[in-house]
Amino acid sequence: MRTHFCGLVDEALIGQTVTLCGWADVARNLGGVCFIDLRDHEGIVQIVAEPDNPAYATAADVGYEFCLRVTGTVRARHSVNDKIRTGKVEVLAERIEILNRADSLPFYSHENPGEDVRLKYRHLDLRRPEMQRMMRRRTALVRALRSYLDAAGFQDLETPILTKATPEGARDYLVPSRVHPGEFFALPQSPQLFKQLLMVAGFDRYYQIARCFRDEDLRADRQPEFTQLDMEFAFVSERDVQDFVEDLIRHVFREVQGVELASPFPRLPYAEAMRRYGSDKPDLRIDLELVDIAEAVKGCEFKVFSEWANHADGRVAALRLPEAASMSRKQIDDAGAYAAKYGAKGVAWMKVDDRAKGREGVNSPIAKFLDDATLAAVLDAVGAQSGDLILFGAGLYKTVCDFMGALRLKLGRDLGRVANAWCPLWVTDFPMFEYDDEAQRYVALHHPFTAPSVDDIADLRANARTAVSRGYDMVLNGNEIGGGSIRIHRPDMQSAVFELLGIGAEEAQNKFGFLLDALKHGAPPHGGIAFGIDRIAALMAGTESIRDVIAFPKTASAQCLLTDAPSAIPDAQLAELHIATRVEGPTA
Ligand code: AMO
Ligand code: AMP
Repeated sequence: MRTHFCGLVDEALIGQTVTLCGWADVARNLGGVCFIDLRDHEGIVQIVAEPDNPAYATAADVGYEFCLRVTGTVRARHSVNDKIRTGKVEVLAERIEILNRADSLPFYSHENPGEDVRLKYRHLDLRRPEMQRMMRRRTALVRALRSYLDAAGFQDLETPILTKATPEGARDYLVPSRVHPGEFFALPQSPQLFKQLLMVAGFDRYYQIARCFRDEDLRADRQPEFTQLDMEFAFVSERDVQDFVEDLIRHVFREVQGVELASPFPRLPYAEAMRRYGSDKPDLRIDLELVDIAEAVKGCEFKVFSEWANHADGRVAALRLPEAASMSRKQIDDAGAYAAKYGAKGVAWMKVDDRAKGREGVNSPIAKFLDDATLAAVLDAVGAQSGDLILFGAGLYKTVCDFMGALRLKLGRDLGRVANAWCPLWVTDFPMFEYDDEAQRYVALHHPFTAPSVDDIADLRANARTAVSRGYDMVLNGNEIGGGSIRIHRPDMQSAVFELLGIGAEEAQNKFGFLLDALKHGAPPHGGIAFGIDRIAALMAGTESIRDVIAFPKTASAQCLLTDAPSAIPDAQLAELHIATRVEGPTA
């Protein structure tokens, strides 16, 4: 239908006849002459229809977003538009065909309406050049990943979508079976167990661009269905996996983004990440760090500090904000209110107006509770300088990490302390288990197939609370972009870990018998990782939300506004699936 793409028409084509297809981005009838900005996936070119030509009558009828086919001659343009690639030329129309008219639209490609409208009319939203750019970058990313892994000899194998639950910590999406009344498939939260079986099967290296399904609370960086680059390697240590995928990530950033990432990536043990940044996915673009001051305040009169400083699971941490002493009370109160959302009971503050003057140079509601030696020790510990604002948090270790880590991010941004850089790192040495107070049992920090750093089962049992796993996460600019581990390949160790997680022998056999069997069939040592492709694509595109790099995403309440899913199903269809619905009303 066409000889060229709109966005690629340039001076080399001057004098030639071209046929183009696309949409009328703008259509202007200036009386004596009609201008149409014709848009396709490559860009926009100006079409001119002059009254002495039969195309003029059609051009005059064209409205915004009409779908057109235009034949004409390329000529130099009088008023050059430097902003676009085709800005030096225009096409003098000889024939314009209206391939399809467009009604008045909910919005036009120049507009950026609310997200609900964008998601409902996603085909129009995706027409916008900004969306085209972001989706194309995603394609380039996937292409670069694939070609690298294909060249490295990986097997690209598909694993089932209708399957049995694989625990990754979220709820499952279930699919009822018609032929097995009362029984359900689960959609995979990841291909974890299948990829391990592929290693047992001897494929050595596997990857898959895999769709994963997780029914969990959604945020800007989480979707109920999302895409992983899932990988597994046989006969490897964590260093082998990490070195390989570091090269892979550097490669795709070079190819797609034109960015050279650090080599090697810095590595940070989990405990250190929590201590310095209050987060297991620290944003290293921000040059602010938390400092523990428990030692200095152990004996002080300010009870909040001294109690938590002496508490076995407590933490008293300070965040030094250079040149922030000028922050107003309102701004400091706002920061406190923000921290409260992350569990803070309060945030104490101290302005250091003149460090040389000691107590006289300090302005803080808690200064009166700190004797001279304590005050000096606190100021020394944080490395205070004149002009600083220091914030303090005390409480349970985990809670203080949460709210002080959140403040570090927020104030880092507000105070303009986010470097324009790419800061990847590895976070390693995660705890094997986390104790769930509510359920009164251990839960796996990664997943139950992650190997502990110790080989000895008795040792693991005796030291479960402090056991470290062979898991690792890749973090980029404060986002967890990938997570993986060396797996348990011994059936006795896998059974022991199930047991520690409160999964009894019978339940383990029912749920994971196939895995335990496979481990007994000569399973090789193996390990791997999965990357969140949506998250990497969002970072590359420079957008906050992964919804912008997913063609048809769900809303924050897990709905598809375009198709209006999920939706009610007719009774007959439910009956066929042996399902009766019970929508809970308010309890009487
Ligand atoms: P994990 O659960 O860490 O590991 O997932 C791997 C990566 O997938 C991305 N991700 C998500 N992206 C968008 N929406 C979500 N809801 C979502 N959940 C996770 C993250 C994350 O780092 N089977 C293991 C991998 C392994 O051990 O090899 C797994 O799925 O970027
Ligand atoms: P109060 O004695 O409750 O009036 O608190 C005195 C100061 O300590 C106020 O600035 C509070 O915000 C702060 N504060 C209270 N609880 C904490 C806490 N857990 N961590 C840090 N500061 C706190």
